[in-house]
Amino acid sequence: MDNKAKIIAVVGKGGVGKTSISACIVRHLVESFPEKKILAIDADPAVGLSVALGVDVKMTLDDIRMSIVDSVENGDTREALELLSEARFKIFDALVEMPGFAFLSIGRPESSGCYCKVNSYLKEVISLLANSFDYVVIDAEAGIEQIQRRVMDKVTHLLLVSDQSKKGNQVISTIKSVADDLIVYEKIGAVINRMTNPELSGLISVPGVEVLACIPSDTVFAANDIKGRSVMDLPEESALLKGAKEALVKMEIL
Ligand SMILES: Nc1ncnc2c1ncn2[C@@H]1O[C@H](COP(=O)(O)OP(=O)(O)OP(=O)(O)O)[C@@H](O)[C@H]1O
Ligand SMILES: [Mg+2]
Repeated sequence: MDNKAKIIAVVGKGGVGKTSISACIVRHLVESFPEKKILAIDADPAVGLSVALGVDVKMTLDDIRMSIVDSVENGDTREALELLSEARFKIFDALVEMPGFAFLSIGRPESSGCYCKVNSYLKEVISLLANSFDYVVIDAEAGIEQIQRRVMDKVTHLLLVSDQSKKGNQVISTIKSVADDLIVYEKIGAVINRMTNPELSGLISVPGVEVLACIPSDTVFAANDIKGRSVMDLPEESALLKGAKEALVKMEIL
């Protein structure tokens, strides 16, 4: 049996549903593989996945990085790898244990000035933690920077999320070509989310990427969100939940 961690990165432009889809993916994995170790990573400093999954975050990756920097003279100039060896055990303090999965947040590096430092730290953390988990779901920051910086340089599944617009689809084509140059992945696919005209889904195509699912605008999801409930409480008939499942089945994860 293949015991390598499956690392699923969810990327795309801002506001297209990356966090909602990541949360649905985590729920499907938790329900389908109760015996497996699952890690959800919120890699977006704007934060969102914790709320979607109902996680109360007390310590972030950036908090840990800063505590190390504070404790080491001239710590700011140290390489991420060196910091990591000191932080190896601290990382586990930042994991929140939830029923069926663990959660890690990159945090908001507003005090530390440079966002790239926590990004390079995150890169080491992902490869370190991947050995301790069977499934890792990464809700990426909007845009292409984390691919360009190779924060996720070795993923198994790259899931590109877009809205129905031609422009949105061009953005994910661009993300794919950058990913092809800079990172390693095994499978790639696209999800078109929040379609107002699902009857036109046959017209959607993304050059070089299979469209795994077209998800209509989902009032069940929106109602759950308004009520402040987590995706774990989302009713089964949610289109987002169904669409996320379809994508996972087509990528042979479920
Ligand atoms: N299929 C859908 N139907 C209805 N509402 C949706 C759907 N998908 C996402 N939403 C809503 O759209 C908003 C943006 O979704 P989400 O936060 O998941 O996007 P995102 O790509 O993570 O955004 P950001 O780039 O800001 O992190 C949220 O309010 C979410 O509830
Ligand atoms: Mg988000």
